Amino acid sequence: MLLGVNVDHIATVREARKDVEPDPVKAAELAIKGGADGITVHLREDRRHIQDRDLIEVRKRVKKVELNLEMAATDEMVRIALKVRPDMVTLVPEKRAELTTEGGLDLKKSGKKIKKAIDVIQGKGMPVSLFINPAIADVEISKQLGATMVEIHTGIYSNAKGKKQIEELKRVKKAVSRAHDIGLLVNAGHGLNYTNVKNIIAIKDIRGLYIGHSIVARSVYDGMENAVREMKKLIGV
Ligand code: PXP
Repeated sequence: MLLGVNVDHIATVREARKDVEPDPVKAAELAIKGGADGITVHLREDRRHIQDRDLIEVRKRVKKVELNLEMAATDEMVRIALKVRPDMVTLVPEKRAELTTEGGLDLKKSGKKIKKAIDVIQGKGMPVSLFINPAIADVEISKQLGATMVEIHTGIYSNAKGKKQIEELKRVKKAVSRAHDIGLLVNAGHGLNYTNVKNIIAIKDIRGLYIGHSIVARSVYDGMENAVREMKKLIGV
């Protein structure tokens, strides 16, 4: 199973100060050193974290692993994808007010727009993945729309507890299995952390997991001690 690391929230911290640090491109390089099989950046319409120049730089410097561009299926984003040429594109729904992607694509409502984006992007040789809820109908529509891959939304599973979590895990498993059976490559992601990932790893036929927040959070804890020690040394106390 592959691990794609989402570095958006490195840019979230940088944008809080409109500074140059921390740099998501540098974080991507460190993630690759740590064994990441892929890097994901989500260029949002409001540019709240990743900026256009980050995407251009990350494309220049991420060559040996898969660069996944997450984006809304808009004309602007399709134009950017064709110019930057990531290794794959994941289409996600986007709402301005949301803190993070809240659910899978509404394929019934936006099918036409999504199909157009798939045709243009895949026509230029980049595979497209659709971020969808763990529902059999959505898996089947994804295939009909011509996507190469799907990413099954694990956010509800990740946030649920006890019985509800077990039920949601079953839905994820069924969706993965159906997607695999009809010839889609299957990824999964959202809300996964060092604990809840264990049940997902046990599902066969998942190609890769896309994880961001929990890895960024862990990297702060793991790095804080050394960062303070170095500053103390400089201060000389
Ligand atoms: N997959 C998709 C489609 C996402 O939108 C996100 C969040 O940017 C992730 C995976 C990663 O989610 P998290 O940050 O909760 O690990």
